[in-house]
Amino acid sequence: MKKINPISKAKAPKTKPTKVKVEIIKPEILSIQNLSVTIQAKPVLPVLQNISFSMKEGEILALVGESGSGKSLTALSITKLLPVKHFEYTTGSIIFNGTNILHVDDEKLRGIRGKEIAYIFQDPFTSLNPLKKIKDQIIESYRIHISENEREAVDKAKYLLNKVGLTELDERLNSYPGQMSGGMLQRICIASALMCDPKLLIADEPTSALDVTIQSQLVDLLLKIKEENQMSILFISHDISLVASLANRIAVMYAGQIVEIGETDALIDRPTHPYTEALLRSIPSGVKSHQRLAVIDGIVPSPADYPVGCHFSSRCPEVMERCKIEKPPLYELIKNRCSACFLREKKK
Ligand SMILES: Nc1ncnc2c1ncn2[C@@H]1O[C@H](COP(=O)(O)OP(=O)(O)OP(=O)(O)O)[C@@H](O)[C@H]1O
Ligand SMILES: [Mg+2]
Repeated sequence: MKKINPISKAKAPKTKPTKVKVEIIKPEILSIQNLSVTIQAKPVLPVLQNISFSMKEGEILALVGESGSGKSLTALSITKLLPVKHFEYTTGSIIFNGTNILHVDDEKLRGIRGKEIAYIFQDPFTSLNPLKKIKDQIIESYRIHISENEREAVDKAKYLLNKVGLTELDERLNSYPGQMSGGMLQRICIASALMCDPKLLIADEPTSALDVTIQSQLVDLLLKIKEENQMSILFISHDISLVASLANRIAVMYAGQIVEIGETDALIDRPTHPYTEALLRSIPSGVKSHQRLAVIDGIVPSPADYPVGCHFSSRCPEVMERCKIEKPPLYELIKNRCSACFLREKKK
């Protein structure tokens, strides 16, 4: 057999070795491509249109946009939580960890929900059953997916409750939701979502029902947990200034479509879509504090009133005739940067 000679020292080049920047490419945990969802009304309403974005393992992606943009419907679609009676997935794919969620049967879906993909919702008071003790609610998913052993489940619950900053754990576990504050309950919801060590945590406005100090504590907590657990987080918020300190990338949503995606700093410093620019100008706390606050005139149209062309055309300060009749595709401007605006179309 032919031996492969190692390069001999004598033949090694004498030039200084150049430094090579090694980029560690993490695998994708979630990839949504061209997802469209309709509401089964008369007439049928195309509520989500050609949603495409992906997430890497360990990444925090923020999904931002005004109320009614379609953030929650997108989040619920990921585990097919939209009721089939009212919603239909008309096009696209949702690949989670190599599996197309839209093609799996109900039993496999139940195995994914709560175990591999967990949710935290906006209002902890409505997320928890007021009639059941915290203990029974927090250990439920562990007993379904991991082990029926109650002792083991309670131990894990205590470990996580301690991690999310709660004390007097036996007392907490034996309480009912109504006996606790909103901040405490949201910590319990976070611990509950982590019981099965999910690969993806979907947090839908998890802090917007809480006061500002509790909000920042919970954001810090999520960051710490994410580092320790190596999970990915889809963090949904209408507040772009809140996600600025949290997310690796931001996807901006408007009226059922993704209008811009980019790395957080780049997107905030150099927005490429008029809607992202308008959102940034209207932040009360001011990511860009030197600029005057501005309101975006009008409201997000409901699915029945989506404009024919670009959905933002009815409110866009830079609207052109073309925008009113044609939908702009999501142009890839550079790596990790996409924008759905005709102003970004590359001239041929
Ligand atoms: N069950 C439903 N039937 C009809 N329309 C619906 C239904 N659920 C949501 N919608 C509409 O779909 C659009 C997107 O709603 P969604 O709840 O996803 O918005 P959102 O971005 O999460 O808003 P918010 O910030 O207020 O939570 C809105 O126009 C909403 O009115
Ligand atoms: Mg919502």
